[in-house]
Amino acid sequence: PNPSLLILPGDGIGPEVMAEVRKVIDWFGTHKDVSFDVTEDLVGGAAYDAHGVPLHDDTMAMAQKVDAVLLGAVGGPKYDELDFSVKPERGLLRLRKEMDLFANLRPAQCFDALADFSSLKTEIVSGLDIMIVRELTSGIYFGEPRGIMDDNEGGRVGINTQRYTTSEIRRVARSAFELAKKRNNRVCSMEKANVMESGILWREEVQWVHDNEYPEVELSHMYADAGAMQLVRKPKQFDVIVTDNLFGDLLSDAAAMLTGSLGMLPSASLGAPMANGRPKAMYEPVHGSAPDIAGEGKANPIACILSFAMALRYSFDMPQHADIVEGAVEAVLAQGIRTADLLGEEGKSPVTTSEMGDAIIAALGTS
Ligand code: NAI
Ligand code: MG
Repeated sequence: PNPSLLILPGDGIGPEVMAEVRKVIDWFGTHKDVSFDVTEDLVGGAAYDAHGVPLHDDTMAMAQKVDAVLLGAVGGPKYDELDFSVKPERGLLRLRKEMDLFANLRPAQCFDALADFSSLKTEIVSGLDIMIVRELTSGIYFGEPRGIMDDNEGGRVGINTQRYTTSEIRRVARSAFELAKKRNNRVCSMEKANVMESGILWREEVQWVHDNEYPEVELSHMYADAGAMQLVRKPKQFDVIVTDNLFGDLLSDAAAMLTGSLGMLPSASLGAPMANGRPKAMYEPVHGSAPDIAGEGKANPIACILSFAMALRYSFDMPQHADIVEGAVEAVLAQGIRTADLLGEEGKSPVTTSEMGDAIIAALGTS
């Protein structure tokens, strides 16, 4: 059977960038005889306008069945005054929660033509291709007890609890090792086992999964603070990094700046393997609905197109097709073709969203 894909364009620039992904999907059908069973549906404000809820139950059920979900972005000023329970973000949160997407994947990949966009020197980032796997559903953002309370000495105390169980650590470790097998067979796990019990358990359990299930993958451990330093000093030493929710939040944002614009950054969230062995998966650009440029044809579609490339690589087992897409993006950038977000002040003329998509389609045929 064809791989199945649920497309949820969402709000703002979501539908604009998704239209360019559609061109890529159509190109594969026409030129590579690769077809996908694509369903398209509403999420976020668009779903609220149609159904009064930011995610319809039927859409949720479809998301649970398909091989992968590809989401554009949700939200916008039109929906800011809505009740919390029906805000566009709730649609996204429901997908993440009910699909139990516990592993958040944030690649930091440097396209050479944009190396001067990085906050770092070109030689440090040129050719960079790393993947940060962040545990997303547990840890200090969720642990109990939590709250702000009286400290019984006339002051107050703010409490959050870092808490990880064996199974929570093992499942995200498995996601990281599975990814490593599709990449370069190397995982670096980061925690603070020197000062945190949850860090000691994290290190032991990641090592356990390695020794018992993935002995062929190279595993190293690093304290997260040292890891942050190494990420900026010599990022190319890493391939897959696996870490907890808090450290992953910081490290993935820092890693994003190694490579530049928000309009270039894809992401994925993975859950447990389904009956067919593929993990539950949702792919989405890191950026939001960008209301400031929505409807103007200014959005960069590359983050969404690279999110689809991640689906090809990690959900559909089509690494050669993912390479074709990423190669086409690289080629277009090398030709100097830029949407406005990729241009500095010195106004070279930017291309539109759809012109960028067309350029990538043209490059697909030659890469
Ligand atoms: P944003 O990511 O939408 O925009 C931040 C800035 O980056 C804006 O100036 C925007 O024009 C620019 N930008 C973003 N994506 C771009 C692209 N592909 N090409 C060119 N420029 C791009 O974040 P912001 O402004 O904080 O949030 C706007 C709305 O999006 C809010 O309603 C927010 O809740 C929602 N949001 C949704 C997310 C999601 O669906 N996963 C994630 C982040 C925000
Ligand atoms: Mg963050």
